[in-house]
Amino acid sequence: MSIFRADALQGLVALVTGGGSGIGASIAVTLAEHGARVAVCGRTQAKLDATAEAIAAVGGEALAVTADVRRPEQVEAVMQAIEARWGRLDVLVNSAAGNFLCPAASLSPNGFGTVVDIDLKGTFNACKAALPLLSRAGGSILNISATLHYGGTPLQVHAASAKAGIDALTRTLAVEWGAAGIRVNVIAPGPIDNTEGITRLLPPELRAKAERAIPLRRFGQPREIAEAAVFLASPASAYTTGATLVIDGGSWLTGMGL
Ligand code: HXC
Repeated sequence: MSIFRADALQGLVALVTGGGSGIGASIAVTLAEHGARVAVCGRTQAKLDATAEAIAAVGGEALAVTADVRRPEQVEAVMQAIEARWGRLDVLVNSAAGNFLCPAASLSPNGFGTVVDIDLKGTFNACKAALPLLSRAGGSILNISATLHYGGTPLQVHAASAKAGIDALTRTLAVEWGAAGIRVNVIAPGPIDNTEGITRLLPPELRAKAERAIPLRRFGQPREIAEAAVFLASPASAYTTGATLVIDGGSWLTGMGL
């Protein structure tokens, strides 16, 4: 049950990269619940199909297109598929991300580059490819970042560098593309349950300790990110651009950049 009107995003078309799982999937379904038609892209068609089914289950319209955000030509093809299907794009959500734990001293150049390629360059590729359609619609971009680069997070030099880049990219595009009526914002999630980030990166034995360190004393839910995405995609945030909305239960304030 959402506090937003069910037609808050009626008439809008959205694309969620990395929409096959975790936060991206939750955002995709939640945007659909609020009236948007939603395309999802990612590397694994089966995961995208599952999100499309979840969208259909809430009465929404979905399009699932396989694409690796590291490949500009594949991202272009997604935009063409969206234009062919719906003739417009109003909201781009960049949620595709890669990550693993690795000390900087043993991280290979290709390991560092792979995460930067997925997170940062992938975000750039999607923004660039979406620009013509977003300009026509006066649309908006929502980038999913993190808080791990607000301090220094061990084993995360690749992801922290990439997410810092996403924050910089967001502010720059907000300035450059504002005149085209395009808003560009960031959500910085903290520890969110049922996501790859927590499942893969947080050893289970550290969970209870992590929970005690969060000011709100619990992990977040994907839906709590998705509801904020509805706000940032909707006309309710029409004057918000270049902003970062941290949704982490207060975690980063304690120095826990999860
Ligand atoms: C060290 C690793 C590694 C690991 C991959 N590499 N995994 N190095 N430790 N665990 C290195 C490889 O050795 C290789 O370098 C390079 O990275 C590329 O690996 P590939 O397997 O060829 O790349 P690819 O399959 O394209 O991508 C691998 C991947 C990706 C980046 C691990 O599959 C992935 O991240 N999948 C999970 C998606 C995910 O979890 N998304 C949510 C992210 S959470 P060499 O030198 O050997 O060639 C998130 C939130 C952040 O972003 C905040 C957290 C709290």
